[in-house]
Amino acid sequence: MAKVEFPQKGMPGNDVLSTLRSLKSGDSDYKHGRMFSLIFNAGEDVARVSEEAYYAFIIENGLSPFAFPSLLKMETEVASMMADLLGGDENTVGNMTSGGSESIMVAVKAARDYARAKKPHITQPELLMPLSAHPAFNKAAHYLGLKTVIVPTDKKTLAADVAAMRQAITENTVMMVGSAPSYPHGIIDPLTDLAEIAAKNGIWMHVDACVGGLELPFVEKLGYPIPTFDFRIPGVCSISADIHKYGFTPKGASVILYRNPEFRQYQIFAYADWPGGVYATPNVSGSRPGGPIASSWATLKYLGIEGYMKLHKQSMEATRKLIEGIETIPGLYVLGKPLATVFAIGSDVLNVFALGEKMKEFRWYIDSQHLPPCLHMTISPIHATIVEPFLADLQAAVKEIAKLKPEDITGEAAMYGMIGSMPDRGMAKDFAVQYLNDLYRVH
Ligand SMILES: Cc1ncc(COP(=O)(O)O)c(C=O)c1O
Repeated sequence: MAKVEFPQKGMPGNDVLSTLRSLKSGDSDYKHGRMFSLIFNAGEDVARVSEEAYYAFIIENGLSPFAFPSLLKMETEVASMMADLLGGDENTVGNMTSGGSESIMVAVKAARDYARAKKPHITQPELLMPLSAHPAFNKAAHYLGLKTVIVPTDKKTLAADVAAMRQAITENTVMMVGSAPSYPHGIIDPLTDLAEIAAKNGIWMHVDACVGGLELPFVEKLGYPIPTFDFRIPGVCSISADIHKYGFTPKGASVILYRNPEFRQYQIFAYADWPGGVYATPNVSGSRPGGPIASSWATLKYLGIEGYMKLHKQSMEATRKLIEGIETIPGLYVLGKPLATVFAIGSDVLNVFALGEKMKEFRWYIDSQHLPPCLHMTISPIHATIVEPFLADLQAAVKEIAKLKPEDITGEAAMYGMIGSMPDRGMAKDFAVQYLNDLYRVH
């Protein structure tokens, strides 16, 4: 018998809902700016509009554009607004997906099938990516039968190393990837150079703007120096841009854009011989919730360019203050030269994993990263309210960590250190699989 039995009798609705609410008590506090990943918080008014729009379409199913033309209209308008923002033109097309991973999955499928059509002699297609690109590409390549060729990033800048990427091209390369910016360190890759190399070699170039798609255009308009990263670069074939990140909607919303419909056709799956009818979908999922589509449409309309600029000004100013404050704390530095609001804190003298754990004791939730060890910071407008207390606690935490001897480092900090430094990365991978396999059971 399973550990939790399927209930024989139903429970009163109010009891179910109050139990549900009480489950939240152990969750991280995202509302007050104490988290630096996972949630992008733009404050109450944006949340109200995006949540109400979500609820208004919570039942509708995006699987059928004929049954729910409202969703078709909103989805195509969201894609078009995003194309407008990201340097597209009247040929640019796109779809909404459930998130960055799905946008990347369908882009990799499109690039693979484009190569199958144009270069049928390639039987072992390769996806060329810098080490910093998101693992959603590794996952897509794994699911779709491509080989990943992973190129170390420049040691100093942490950006894709153009010369090394060029050298890694083979006759089997079908897709090249760069980030705007990368998740781990917030670095924008040299995309103009990468796209030029890709175009010269007839390779599909994808820009992963899952993080920056709804941020960098506004930061650029605010006057900060942001290199061109979108369809204004001629060789760019597709762009992924998440709305559920810096677009500030609830989760389940991303956009995949293509320079033209010829590229997009390779995303679409169709099967014509099913007794249920001709079946065709652009996405990995079949049924699709209407909520994220409506919420995205409503939030883009509600904020507009001016609203997003105002919010991103707030995050940029908070980021600058945080980075300046962090760099005055002895022993800490920020990795590379991040141009927007994602960055990582490193140290050559302190155990940063232990620092992250100490900050948890002060109720700040910061993710640990490795290769090299560092702490991840994604800044939202809400963080404008926490700059001073955060820096004060960070300073206090550093003082405490500096006193620790190596044998004092235990618990999660020791575990991160152990996994990061395992020379056999296959072992680290097996460890992660076993860990998740065990985690997702009722305990
Ligand atoms: C640069 C980048 N690409 C892709 C993804 C994947 O997005 P999602 O988690 O929405 O699937 C992320 C997620 O953080 C990301 O930062």
